Amino acid sequence: MKKQKRRLNLVELNEKQLFEIADEAMKNAYAPYSNYRVGAAIVCDNDKTYSGVNIENASYGLTNCAERTAIFKAVSEGVKHVSKIIVTNGTDELSKPCGACRQVMSEFMGPDDIVYLANQHNDFKEFTFKEILPLAFSDKDMD
Ligand code: THU
Repeated sequence: MKKQKRRLNLVELNEKQLFEIADEAMKNAYAPYSNYRVGAAIVCDNDKTYSGVNIENASYGLTNCAERTAIFKAVSEGVKHVSKIIVTNGTDELSKPCGACRQVMSEFMGPDDIVYLANQHNDFKEFTFKEILPLAFSDKDMD
């Protein structure tokens, strides 16, 4: 019998699964220059999750971080809001999103949305977005 296709939605998705998606994605990190592998997974307003990895380039400055890869994939499919993000990496240290990624996150995440920063052992710390980017610059500053 043909297996029914199931769509992963917010109700079914628990934190453990989100961590697994980020971990699994990290295997596809393209990091031949730094050898620092990063995986991200996000939960979005369309009930879907998206993953992302860091994608490096021989012209170093063109590197795209895992967080931005995941967010850009989602936004290109119509997402306007990200409610959770997990960022993991292949070391013992917890991930620390760079400043550029925090600013891009601030475009699509609210102050109380959830950020999990993890390491390769799935140790993690949970933050709200405003904890990792206080005083964020936003469209309101231009009113
Ligand atoms: N990197 C990320 O993917 N996310 C971050 O927030 C920090 C940095 C990547 C970019 C580059 O491929 C490698 O980590 C080393 O900087």
